[in-house]
Amino acid sequence: MNTYKIAVLKGDGIGPEIVDEAINVLNAVGHKYNIEFDYNEGLVGGIAIDTVGDPFPAETQAICEASDAILFGAIGDPKFDNNPNAKVRPEQGLLKMRKTLGLFANIRPVKAYDSLLQLSPLKEQITKGSNFVVIRELTGGIYFGEPRGRSENGETAFDTCVYTREEIVRVAKMAFEYAKTRRNKLTVVDKANVLATSRLWRETVQSMEQNYPSVEVDYMFVDNAAMKLIQQPSYFDVVLTENMFGDILTDEASVITGSLGMLPSASKGSKVALYEPIHGSFPQAKGKGIANPIATILSAAMMLEDLGEVAAAKAIYQSIDNVVNENYLTVDLNPVNPVSTAEVGRRIVEYIK
Ligand code: IPM
Ligand code: MN
Repeated sequence: MNTYKIAVLKGDGIGPEIVDEAINVLNAVGHKYNIEFDYNEGLVGGIAIDTVGDPFPAETQAICEASDAILFGAIGDPKFDNNPNAKVRPEQGLLKMRKTLGLFANIRPVKAYDSLLQLSPLKEQITKGSNFVVIRELTGGIYFGEPRGRSENGETAFDTCVYTREEIVRVAKMAFEYAKTRRNKLTVVDKANVLATSRLWRETVQSMEQNYPSVEVDYMFVDNAAMKLIQQPSYFDVVLTENMFGDILTDEASVITGSLGMLPSASKGSKVALYEPIHGSFPQAKGKGIANPIATILSAAMMLEDLGEVAAAKAIYQSIDNVVNENYLTVDLNPVNPVSTAEVGRRIVEYIK
């Protein structure tokens, strides 16, 4: 029996309900494939601010560092959003966590399910067969660059976008390796016609091309990529981009799948990786049982794959395909005849059994 220590960070809003379903599903595959999960919960986000005054407390960090993987829900609360003077914000917890744990690469797979194609506002003939992965740099760029802040009189604000060659090389390596396991096609998205950081990205990736002769690389400006993504998504296989472009483009890409509630992600870099849905804490839905748990359950499947539990991961993917095909889905994907968050989880568990 393989045993894994899993840090469970449910966070805010719908975080607890969607993570609970992912845990039910993990327990089901654990039972079937003889895997044991040792869960340890930690506080993060708004709830951590309210409880201990820090959105990523040292205790949570210690739990993460002592684990084999981290399962994360969501953070964010409107009571902080509506207060621009709030000194600490839940999002700082997520950013601090990514930075301190060295999670520099965020892997975001985007896949269109045939039976959901009609739910996308995009035409079926455009989205059908879309299947690509965005690799978003996660611990650099404008999210972290210094200096940042306000001028003394408060009339000017500034953020700084910084990248080092080393930061680009390590995430680009990962993207090249991903491309080798897929269609050998890598698209680097930047704004090299305007930004110095983007020119460093382009130069750095270009110098790495020779090490990956099987991979065909193209470079695309982010504005053009934003258009291409909804005009011809099947064009893409592996997309590599910097932090903020990746944030924006993946929300856009989720439209291809019919719902933001379908996109999982893995954040990697150091010893322990973190698995989380790409969506936020959806505070309006908190406690209502209407949130789509699939992105989180898919994230748990990505976690199992990385832990080497491939059969268990496959069982989850297959069961999700089943609930999607029978339209056993929450209101975002099935507005006419929706089922609850817990019912989606339960159904996936039944299929696994
Ligand atoms: C994401 C989120 C975060 C980000 C926020 C909550 C800080 O939008 O994971 O995509 O911008 O990275
Ligand atoms: Mn985002």
